[in-house]
Amino acid sequence: MGLSTLSKLFVSVCLISGSYAYTLPMDDILAYAKEDTIFKEHTLSITRNYVNPDGIFKSGLRINGQSPGPCIQGDENDWVRVTVNNNSPVAITIHFHGILQRGTPWADGVSGVTQNPIFPGESYIYEFQVKDQYGFTWYHAHHRGYSTDGVYGPMNFVPSPKRERPYHLITNDTSDIETLLELEKDPIPLIGDDSFKWDMDSIISRMFDYGVDPLCIQSILINGKGRKVCHDPEVFERLRNKNGTSQNVRNGEFDSWGCMKMENGYTNATNFSGLEIPGYYETCDSTFTEQFEHHSNTDWYYFNLLNAGGQFTKAFSIDGHQLWVVAIDGIFVNPQIGHQIILPVGSRVTIVVKAKRGIFPMRFAAALTPQFIEGVGYLVNHMENGTRNDTLPTIFQDLDGRLISENYTSIWPKNTAPFDESARYNLGTRPADHTFNLHLNRTGMITFSLFPDGELLPHNFEHDKPLLYNFSQQSYGKWALRDNIKTGDIVDIIINNSNAMGHPIHLHGHLFYLLSHDNSNAFIHNSVEDAVQHGYTAFNDNPPLFDITYIPPRGHSVIRFVADNPGIWLIHCHNLGHLLGGMGAVIFEDEESLNQLMKSRTIS
Ligand SMILES: *[C@@H]1O[C@H](CO)[C@@H](O)[C@H](O)[C@H]1NC(C)=O
Ligand SMILES: *[C@@H]1O[C@H](CO)[C@@H](O)[C@H](O)[C@H]1NC(C)=O
Ligand SMILES: *[C@@H]1O[C@H](CO)[C@@H](O)[C@H](O)[C@H]1NC(C)=O
Ligand SMILES: *[C@@H]1O[C@H](CO)[C@@H](O)[C@H](O)[C@H]1NC(C)=O
Ligand SMILES: *[C@@H]1O[C@H](CO)[C@@H](O)[C@H](O)[C@H]1NC(C)=O
Ligand SMILES: *[C@@H]1O[C@H](CO)[C@@H](O)[C@H](O)[C@H]1NC(C)=O
Ligand SMILES: *[C@@H]1O[C@H](CO)[C@@H](O)[C@H](O)[C@H]1NC(C)=O
Ligand SMILES: *[C@@H]1O[C@H](CO)[C@@H](O)[C@H](O)[C@H]1NC(C)=O
Ligand SMILES: *[C@@H]1O[C@H](CO)[C@@H](O)[C@H](O)[C@H]1NC(C)=O
Ligand SMILES: *[C@@H]1O[C@H](CO)[C@@H](O)[C@H](O)[C@H]1NC(C)=O
Repeated sequence: MGLSTLSKLFVSVCLISGSYAYTLPMDDILAYAKEDTIFKEHTLSITRNYVNPDGIFKSGLRINGQSPGPCIQGDENDWVRVTVNNNSPVAITIHFHGILQRGTPWADGVSGVTQNPIFPGESYIYEFQVKDQYGFTWYHAHHRGYSTDGVYGPMNFVPSPKRERPYHLITNDTSDIETLLELEKDPIPLIGDDSFKWDMDSIISRMFDYGVDPLCIQSILINGKGRKVCHDPEVFERLRNKNGTSQNVRNGEFDSWGCMKMENGYTNATNFSGLEIPGYYETCDSTFTEQFEHHSNTDWYYFNLLNAGGQFTKAFSIDGHQLWVVAIDGIFVNPQIGHQIILPVGSRVTIVVKAKRGIFPMRFAAALTPQFIEGVGYLVNHMENGTRNDTLPTIFQDLDGRLISENYTSIWPKNTAPFDESARYNLGTRPADHTFNLHLNRTGMITFSLFPDGELLPHNFEHDKPLLYNFSQQSYGKWALRDNIKTGDIVDIIINNSNAMGHPIHLHGHLFYLLSHDNSNAFIHNSVEDAVQHGYTAFNDNPPLFDITYIPPRGHSVIRFVADNPGIWLIHCHNLGHLLGGMGAVIFEDEESLNQLMKSRTIS
């Protein structure tokens, strides 16, 4: 079967909405690569290096000598082969975040779930199709904390010509639309990342040996570059005294890094300054490393924004510019314009911006967090001939990530809606076949749970035999979400947050619809159907479709997906410390089809 035959069998999201008792033909599920498949090839070589992204040296990991790694580019429906050569001294895996891996669940790159880690000196080949998918995704290590040591990079797939674009809702100028279609082929990634003082093995050792949640960071990097910036204590005092902030500040004390002291203390710590526990950093010396700059002579920018950090939600803005959101997690949305974009950890937001001439700071500030910190890069447009623009651009956001004026607007992924008719979902189709209830709770200093009784994903899950190769007839803990899900079933997950801490929850193997979301109230019903019967009306009419939902303290999300992808899929908090501290579960999807799929597997 050649590629053209294969393409006829692809099941798109559009078939799912509105159709009822429908099952996928097995051929679709088994639509993996054949002998004549043409792959786009990429090689990623991982090394351990001594790096100083923000002016202070530490041990880090690099991909082909760089971080972020090279962009994996291509077109919708491409087949991709990624060869990973692990030349570093630690075991790793690579997860392709946002790629659904339909028909290739073994290529999802999660140690302990879909594969063994790739050991030092070994190579591993991932093969998958970007089936009916386009836009911005990314790859990152999915073993221990190595993503934050630098193992991540952008991926972009140009939408097929058949797909409708939303650009005409931004401009009526046909030459502008042509420009955007051209820029869409090679967007500029802008990746914000949290950089700790030490490498992640040290951070994780400090976490498990001393009960220290790896909370506060040293710098925020943009495309791998940043600075450590120290502020006067008055700056932190001013931010603390802003209306609405004080509820987040336990006792109002900050250390030299803008990191707040937490009320509960750190149970087992004997030397707070020696362990550099958050809230107790004593010294701060600024560094003056090179910052990220984008030089251009253009009228529009087309950016792919990503929060790759393992720690903090980010507020992004470009001084002096309003931003048009055109896609979230690689799905075109009805465009919205605003001054600021909020990016939960792992989220991707594609924006287009009408460029001005001058030099403009681009800011990624930590938002909704116990630390005041930002990373800054620069847009430099039409400045190569010594042109000057002496007007200072307007700054929209503060160091705490909050807007400076009530006249400015902020856009959250959760408040967007798919542009394409085929990506919309009508809640009224039929009741869910399965409803899982999750309950976010920090049950100890470094234990984080998804379940009401505090059950944790086993601490050592990454080193166990991968579940994908050992799922039949075994009994597992509550963390195994196993309810005889069949292909075609509708699956709902109700997620309440009982915590004082927000969590970005990511599901593998699916995009999901955000049916209901609230910033401060729990979802008190047992199912969506139950809620409808009790007159609950706060469902989203045209729910966003994405793969991460940020759930604020005491709030909730109700998410839905249609089972169309037999596999063993992790659902977890994308904050790395929280995942390692237990905040994860695994969905077992259509085990019968999965068995067939595993037996007929012929590729990597
Ligand atoms: C395009 O033109 C129409 C008709 O003049 C107008 O209503 C609409 O607002 C314009 N759209 C944009 C994006 O400028
Ligand atoms: C704290 O110390 C106690 C007693 O030594 C130990 O049982 C517990 O596991 C430690 N907690 C952490 C988070 O390390
Ligand atoms: C503080 O903010 C709240 C809502 O966020 C508002 O109701 C209140 O009036 C504000 N107080 C002041 C002094 O601005
Ligand atoms: C705590 O750590 C600091 C910094 O390493 C060190 O100077 C100090 O002596 C330590 N205090 C104790 C009581 O161990
Ligand atoms: C910069 O100068 C060069 C040479 O004079 C010219 O060709 C180019 O158009 C100028 N660029 C801008 C943006 O003015
Ligand atoms: C110069 O900068 C100001 C402030 O950012 C901006 O409003 C203006 O459009 C810029 N001038 C040009 C020619 O782009
Ligand atoms: C917001 O806009 C209004 C109307 O233009 C203006 O009067 C007000 O001063 C602005 N507020 C701030 C904080 O800039
Ligand atoms: C959260 O976990 C703590 C510690 O296990 C427990 O005491 C508390 O009841 C839990 N909270 C909720 C709302 O489940
Ligand atoms: C398969 O999983 C079961 C249940 O977790 C475990 O007891 C068993 O050791 C695993 N098998 C292998 C070969 O690792
Ligand atoms: C969500 O939390 C509320 C309030 O704590 C509780 O009544 C409800 O049962 C929870 N729902 C689920 C599905 O856990």
